[in-house]
Amino acid sequence: MVKISPSILSADLLKIEEEVISLDKSGADYIHIDIMDGHYVPNITFGPNIVKSIKSITTKTLDVHLMIEPVEPYIKEFIDAGSDIISFHPEADNNASQIIDIINNASIKSGIAIHPDKNVLDFEHLFKKIQQVIVMTVVPGFGGQRFMENQIQKIKELKDIRKENNYNFEISVDGGINNETGKLCIENGVDVLAVGSYLLSQDDQNYNKIINALK
Ligand code: DX5
Ligand code: ZN
Repeated sequence: MVKISPSILSADLLKIEEEVISLDKSGADYIHIDIMDGHYVPNITFGPNIVKSIKSITTKTLDVHLMIEPVEPYIKEFIDAGSDIISFHPEADNNASQIIDIINNASIKSGIAIHPDKNVLDFEHLFKKIQQVIVMTVVPGFGGQRFMENQIQKIKELKDIRKENNYNFEISVDGGINNETGKLCIENGVDVLAVGSYLLSQDDQNYNKIINALK
């Protein structure tokens, strides 16, 4: 069954503890934390401290999505903060392969995220040693954007590459996921849906209903 990774980017930051506790009690599988630096993307969000704080109040898998450039100088801090999966955009650093090694050596999961402007094959050399590939279905930077349907073929491409080579990464989609676009991604074989505004911009903090419906 598909896994759900709610993005706390769309959470009410004045109630972040309550929101995380609600997600912790829900059928969510991961908690997606969007880290933006105002450089790789034109928006600024959180640093490693938020990962550490969230880690202290949930047992869910922390799915950390780094939208920062460069990546390497900060990787250790995100590992030490308690990330369970760290994904980054490989073009944002000259040392993508070494960064993956650092993450893997810390016994947590490594992943890459594919910007809509990039091709799956640009990163073929990295697939053998990662555990997650995030297909971005919006231009990274903001929650609440419209799903880019033309990115769906990347899910199929990744599935084929995974099968041919016996790789074992999970395929995640991130951006513009709702009940309709989520269904489309599931039909195309995605493993994880990262969901922001569709789930967390609700007044009702009982997220279970929407999560179950997505599943
Ligand atoms: C976009 C972020 C996404 C975002 C998803 O740059 O990486 O994770 O929070 O939000 P929605 O689901 O609202 O597009
Ligand atoms: Zn994200």
